[in-house]
Amino acid sequence: MTTLRALIVGFGQVASGLSNDPRMAAHFKYASHASVLADHPAFDWQGVVDSNTAALDNARNTWKVPLCGTDLGRMAAEVRPEIAVLATPPGGRADMIDRMPDLKAVLVEKPLDAPGENGDGARLAAIAAERGIPVIVNYWRRSDRLFRNLAAGGVAASIGRAQAVSALYGNGLANNGGHLIDFLRMLLGAVVAVQALGPAKPAAAGPLAGDVQLPFALTFAEGFVATVQPLDFAHYREVGMDIWGERGRLTILQEGLVTRTYPMTGNRGLSGEREIDCDTGEVLETTVSDALFRMYDNLADAAVGRAEPWSPLASAAVNERIVDLILRSAAEGGSRLTVD
Ligand SMILES: NC(=O)c1ccc[n+]([C@@H]2O[C@H](COP(=O)([O-])OP(=O)(O)OC[C@H]3O[C@@H](n4cnc5c(N)ncnc54)[C@H](O)[C@@H]3O)[C@@H](O)[C@H]2O)c1
Repeated sequence: MTTLRALIVGFGQVASGLSNDPRMAAHFKYASHASVLADHPAFDWQGVVDSNTAALDNARNTWKVPLCGTDLGRMAAEVRPEIAVLATPPGGRADMIDRMPDLKAVLVEKPLDAPGENGDGARLAAIAAERGIPVIVNYWRRSDRLFRNLAAGGVAASIGRAQAVSALYGNGLANNGGHLIDFLRMLLGAVVAVQALGPAKPAAAGPLAGDVQLPFALTFAEGFVATVQPLDFAHYREVGMDIWGERGRLTILQEGLVTRTYPMTGNRGLSGEREIDCDTGEVLETTVSDALFRMYDNLADAAVGRAEPWSPLASAAVNERIVDLILRSAAEGGSRLTVD
């Protein structure tokens, strides 16, 4: 089997560090980019670039990566990467792919643009389009088997059409808000309008400088509305949703680890009516463990033209357009804005 030469740029938490967390390891066999590249037969992981020497020592000593350095130009010349994994914080990524002439596909971390900035994501998209390079954005839920089944008709099959949705996020609108917006779009279809439901407040503890959070509403093409509220992760974490369908209820909680459906039944308090039986609920088996590995399956296939990206750049750009509109709505005191 021919393998694809791969280079990671940015070797911090999502590239490697998350694999050190024992709680995470209990649920995710593949928690970091490094853990996938170390195992995946389609890739020949040759290099790591990071501006921090401790990160390079980690790549050399823990992961036995042969070529590690701070100078992207030099490393690109030595590795001649066909695959780039851009796991730096947002900004400057368009320049990075400009310096790698042999690329066949790119996996880039979300978000495409840093909060309050605009342009690098669009430049990256323009360069990729001109060179015909498929770009996958790491919204990892898009490669999870259970979530893909739910997106491909599973939600409607188990609970009918959605009527009302509520959802939660924290640690920043551009950060986890983006994950949640992407996940809602994946499962429930296009968002046609947005409305801020309160003022934007700094997400001080979030990982992206300048990020904020606020409650907001998303109107979907089918007509139902999702209300989304922020939590302060200083108390506890959650990125989750609660979908009330015409025939049942579906919840995805514990940041995606626990998915439950609840059936419709006879109403316990009123004759001749129905209710959702929220006392029980069936847990659907989680498949998050190898979701990131499967994203790399898709990356390998996209690199040789065998598949379209499951989480393409154009879809990620829609998430960020929605985030921008939510912030504009907040600045305008809560105006309802159409997503064009
Ligand atoms: N998809 C997910 O679920 C997920 C999870 C965590 C983080 N992320 C995203 O991944 C990105 C990185 O987050 P993180 O938590 O790993 O950050 P981090 O700070 O832990 O790691 C970033 C690394 O990039 C290096 N770096 C920064 N700029 C560089 C440059 N110009 N050239 C070379 N190296 C550079 C830093 O030295 C650091 O080692 C962010 O965009 C974040 O939002 C995504």
